[in-house]
Amino acid sequence: MVTTELSHSHYSSIMAKPTLKNKSSSPWFSDGFLFLGGALSALLLVWGFSTLTIPIPNENPTLKSQQNNAVSYSTPDLLFDPPDQTFYDDPEMGYNMDDNVRNWDEKRDEWLKLHPSFSDKERVLMLTGSQPSPCKNPIGDHMLLRFFKNKVDYCRIHGYDIFYNNALLHPKMFAYWAKYPVVKAAMMAHPEAEWIWWVDSDALFTDMEFKLPLQRYKNHNLVVHGWPHLIHEKRSWTGLNAGVFLIRNCQWSLDLMDAWAGMGPQSPEYEKWGKTLRSIFKDKFFPESDDQTGLAYLIAIEKEKWADRIYLEGEYYFEGYWEEIVGTFENISRKYNEIEKGVRRLRRRHAEKVSEGYGVVREEFLKEAGYGKGSWRKPFVTHFTGCQPCSGKYNEMYTAEACWNGMRSALNFADNQVMRRYGFVHPDLEDNGVSSLPFDYPKPKPKPKQ
Ligand SMILES: *[C@@H]1O[C@H](CO)[C@@H](O)[C@H](O)[C@H]1NC(C)=O
Repeated sequence: MVTTELSHSHYSSIMAKPTLKNKSSSPWFSDGFLFLGGALSALLLVWGFSTLTIPIPNENPTLKSQQNNAVSYSTPDLLFDPPDQTFYDDPEMGYNMDDNVRNWDEKRDEWLKLHPSFSDKERVLMLTGSQPSPCKNPIGDHMLLRFFKNKVDYCRIHGYDIFYNNALLHPKMFAYWAKYPVVKAAMMAHPEAEWIWWVDSDALFTDMEFKLPLQRYKNHNLVVHGWPHLIHEKRSWTGLNAGVFLIRNCQWSLDLMDAWAGMGPQSPEYEKWGKTLRSIFKDKFFPESDDQTGLAYLIAIEKEKWADRIYLEGEYYFEGYWEEIVGTFENISRKYNEIEKGVRRLRRRHAEKVSEGYGVVREEFLKEAGYGKGSWRKPFVTHFTGCQPCSGKYNEMYTAEACWNGMRSALNFADNQVMRRYGFVHPDLEDNGVSSLPFDYPKPKPKPKQ
């Protein structure tokens, strides 16, 4: 542990006060520059790859290359847009929250028929974003950059697209309501995406290998982390978390978002909804209507209408509460290292592009790990609810150190899984520095002498 008393109090002063007295003495700022360089080159790499992979226009877009017996590949054709009329040519079609979209499933289907190279039924677009103005917390923007880098890393590894929004699309839909206009606009902009995956700016991937079990959700249109008994019996507004959700690009979802956003600040019913939600979900402590309680209402009260298409995922950390997670990183790292010491295949160096396959191999050794609370599997998503890295106004339930150190170790824990493919590792999760990794790491156990 290199963290000293001094740096602790320094971090807390950053978290607690919007102005920083002594910028130049902060190790975070110099790291920030180095780090920015790293993130930029990672982005350049992403751009580089996408430029390289623009396919040669295909005369027959349905033609698929057969590269092995089991799988056929189709390359998205990024140049082809036939002149046939689609919803894009309809002047009535709007991207705004207030523009009603009808028959979206048919319209999307028509577009997909005209663009057969996007036939992959499990296409995912990740969405995230932050406010249009700079963060009040002096290092807030640096934190957001690190959280975003983590999402870019996850998406690059799994071949997902990602969109970052930092514009307020609906002037009245502020704070947590701001994401719904983005989700809607993204559905229109990405008819090729079957799923839109919203991930809050203060959530990060702490298992870079785990993939969404999309098959499990084939009969559902919305997936959130939640616990049915807390919503239906306890009527708790924390029976689910709306900071991460997976929503199918379909008419049902647009209708749901109309109902859901109908409780928001742009609606004349906003105040009434605040009272209604609070009268039902007694533990909701603030008077304004919010999206999370709103969704709990739709599930609990308008059950007949919506609940059968909403999947409350509680089996793994679809989104996990940071306070119960951050203390487990050290032990989890040790467990994974122990496994790797015994399995050469998992220690083998490899290209980042093929790392999904190593995740599949590792899965065989994680059967005992379990999922979620109490498990030693890497938690999929860690969400720093209440830490407010951008504003710095963390919830009084927590200390600045807890939030701050938690975010740093989570970011480094995640980054270790990425940097490993580049030959480096953060040996100490409390420190942003890296060391280069020796060959055949971690050093295997010596064979017992005969
Ligand atoms: C980590 O493992 C040690 C040794 O097995 C154990 O004593 C400790 O409680 C574990 N820590 C956590 C946070 O689970």
